[in-house]
Amino acid sequence: MSQIDYFTEEHSVESVNRRMGEDIDPRLRQVIGSLVKHLHGFVKEVELTQAEWELAIDFLTSTGQMCDDKRQEFILLSDTLGVSMLVDAIQHRRPAGATENTVFGPFHVDGAPELPMGASISLDGKGEPCRYQGRVLDLEGHPIEGARIDVWSDNSDGFYDIQQPGQQPEWNNRGVFVTAADGYYEFIGIKPVSYPIPDDGPVGKLLESLGRHPWRPAHMHFLLTHPDYERIVTHTFVAGDTYLTSDAVFGVKDSLIVDYVPVNTGMVKWQTRFDFVMAPK
Ligand code: BEZ
Ligand code: FE
Repeated sequence: MSQIDYFTEEHSVESVNRRMGEDIDPRLRQVIGSLVKHLHGFVKEVELTQAEWELAIDFLTSTGQMCDDKRQEFILLSDTLGVSMLVDAIQHRRPAGATENTVFGPFHVDGAPELPMGASISLDGKGEPCRYQGRVLDLEGHPIEGARIDVWSDNSDGFYDIQQPGQQPEWNNRGVFVTAADGYYEFIGIKPVSYPIPDDGPVGKLLESLGRHPWRPAHMHFLLTHPDYERIVTHTFVAGDTYLTSDAVFGVKDSLIVDYVPVNTGMVKWQTRFDFVMAPK
């Protein structure tokens, strides 16, 4: 009989991890082995009480119960604990000059209409119209033809269309644009507004008890794809927004903050420019 045949506080990690079979996937062994090591380390460091353990189980249970095909509370939990941004940072260490990624978020919808360059994505007539323009370039500064730019934002009340079905037109503030040989893109959206992430569930309660707010600074989402280049999931953020340094999901990067310049060309009130730089696959 060895020291770790039976569970002990001292050898807890070895007691659990040595039960793994010999022929299992080596990556699974590494990931679960490390998870057990860190979980046990955490429980030991804080000397987790039985009551706290029960609270944690209740919290995770209600997080799961909050999830359905439209609401993913576990992703919100990951976002607000900085895990989503950390995984993203590790997965997307891009060459200097390439556009940085940020959090995807739960409000993207596949199948948005492909629109002609320059078209408006704002269908509810609310908000301050803004011209978005720029180019999609490679690392050497050459324009990229055939880049697919999928964009989405909240409306001027701070809600995405899918949060208000029946109240907002379907595909409000969403569209897809494909670049021509000059790599140029242009569309009319609105100047987005800051909004709170859904905070009526366990994650919202957790934020409140931690003295944290649920707000995200105003941003426009972009998903860029091309067969020869690495996909970019990013936003541009409105310079000067109150929440730039306290984004509830840690999505802000300096390189993604852009100026919105007031203009007066007919209906359009603002203009903003951002060039995307894609790294090869
Ligand atoms: C968003 O920007 O749409 C978002 C990102 C993370 C959590 C909630 C919303
Ligand atoms: Fe968003």
